[in-house]
Amino acid sequence: MDKKVAALLNDQINKELYSAYLYLDMANFYSAQGLDGFANWYEIQAKEEQDHAMLMYKYLHNNDQTVTLEAVAKPDKQFKELMDPLKAAHAHEQYVTSLIDAIYDAAQQAKDHRTVQFLDWFIKEQGEEEANSSGLIRKMELFGGDAKGLYMLNSELAGRTYSAPSLTI
Ligand code: FEO
Repeated sequence: MDKKVAALLNDQINKELYSAYLYLDMANFYSAQGLDGFANWYEIQAKEEQDHAMLMYKYLHNNDQTVTLEAVAKPDKQFKELMDPLKAAHAHEQYVTSLIDAIYDAAQQAKDHRTVQFLDWFIKEQGEEEANSSGLIRKMELFGGDAKGLYMLNSELAGRTYSAPSLTI
């Protein structure tokens, strides 16, 4: 396997684990505000990020690559308003999309077709992640302005359930 592609994937494991940590901190923020539905949404988001990291971890091992686990950074975003995590999450997903795209480009340049195919799932997943995060901002703008709307939105987000990734390694 191309060394640069392997290094980027190894680095992405850390980025996905950081994402999990960041989303857990968002759940933490909403939980403290008494918004258990929003907290549930981000707890599940955190689990999905751990799944992403594990898929990359397993993929590298299956391809005889050594994985190096680095320190996961402290989530250092500051949240004051209820909208803040939603906007930070969307910006973060756009950033993650740029990272996945860069690995995809590197795999294509290295003619590493197997990794390109592996990353196809992540390309699609990032589209869903961004659609979800921007959709949440829109809902909050529309309905989050009064107590009743916020209660309804919180109830909706409480209904999110975890499902394992459709990609298996
Ligand atoms: Fe692993 Fe939310 O992207």
